Amino acid sequence: MTPDLEKVLSPMRWHDGVLELLDQRLLPHEETWVQCRDYRAVARAIKEMVVRGAPAIGCAAAYGVALGARQKEPLDKVVAVLRATRPTAVNLFWALDRMGRVQPPTPERLEKEALAIHYEDIAACIAIGQHGAPLLPDGTVLTHCNAGALATGGYGTALGVVRAAHEAGRKLKVIADETRPFLQGARLTAWELQKSGIEVSVITDNMAAHLMSKGEIQSVIVGADRIAANGDTANKIGTYGVALIAREHKLPFFVAAPRSTIDRSIPDGAHIVIEERDGREVTHLGERAITPDGVSVRNPAFDVTPNVLIAAIITEAGVARPPYIDSLAGLFS
Ligand code: MRU
Repeated sequence: MTPDLEKVLSPMRWHDGVLELLDQRLLPHEETWVQCRDYRAVARAIKEMVVRGAPAIGCAAAYGVALGARQKEPLDKVVAVLRATRPTAVNLFWALDRMGRVQPPTPERLEKEALAIHYEDIAACIAIGQHGAPLLPDGTVLTHCNAGALATGGYGTALGVVRAAHEAGRKLKVIADETRPFLQGARLTAWELQKSGIEVSVITDNMAAHLMSKGEIQSVIVGADRIAANGDTANKIGTYGVALIAREHKLPFFVAAPRSTIDRSIPDGAHIVIEERDGREVTHLGERAITPDGVSVRNPAFDVTPNVLIAAIITEAGVARPPYIDSLAGLFS
C-alpha cells in the first residue's frame, strides 16, 4: 500500500526518477527540498546530513542504487560509494545488501525495491508506535537527538511511539535534549513535534539530570543506529549519559527501532564502529567560532548504551525485554 507521505511526514519522496530530500541542515528555518538525480548526489546528501537518522539513511541509499542503475553505472561501484558515507547506522548496509539481492537488477526492479524499503519502514514505524505507546507512563518523556519522522521513511521510531500515544488521546509532554553538536533535538525534534501539535520543551543537554531529580521526567525514549545481538545500542552521542542518569533516578529507558537496526552479526557494542565527524561541528555554532583558534577537539558522533541500562527495545515485531540475547533473536523467528 502506498502511504500518504504528507500525512505521515516523510523526509523524502521519489518523483519521476528523482529523489527529493528535505534538507535537514536548514530546518527549522527553511523547508527546502534537495533534488538528487544521480547516486553521487545521494551519497553526498547522506555524508553531509541533508538526510540523517539510521532508517532514513537506509531508505535514501536504496533510492541511490536505483538512480545508479538508471545511470547505467556498475552497481558494485554505486554500492561501494554509498557504503562509504557513514559507518555507524547499520540500516545503510542492511538496505544496500537488500538492494544487492534484487534479481535481475534492472532499473525498474531496483526502483520498486527502493520504494518497498521506504514504505515498509513507514509501516514498521507505525507498528513500533502501537507496541510502544502503552509502555510510556503518563507525564513527560525525555528524548535525545531526533528519532522522528525526519529520521525514518516517515512517522518515526522513538517519536513514533510518542505520536501513537498522542493519537490515542494521551496527554504526554516531551522534553527534547538539544543534542550538541548538530542540534538534532533543538532543530528537528522541536520542529516536527510542534508541527504535529505535540507539546515539546527544549533543554540543553546538561539540564536533564536536574529535571529528573525534580521529578519532572517520567521516562526516556530514544532511537538507535545499531543494536548488537546482546542489546547494546549505539545512538547519538550523549545517549549513554542520559541512560545512566535515568537509572540513577529509577526511570525506564526505552529504545525504539525497526529490526533493520539490529545487527545480529556482532555479539556486543564493542564491535560497533563509531563515526568521528569534522571538529568544526564542535568548534563552531553556525558560522561563528566558539573555541580558541587551533584548539584540539574530539567529535565522536555516537556512543554505546550497555544493554543493562535498557528497560525494553521496541520493534515492529514486538517488545524485547532482557535478556536481549534471547528476546532479540526471538523477533526474527
Ligand atoms: O547523526 P544522525 O543525526 O544521523 O544520528 C541520528 C540518531 O542518532 C538517531 O537517534 C538514530 O539514527 C535513530 S533514528 C530513528
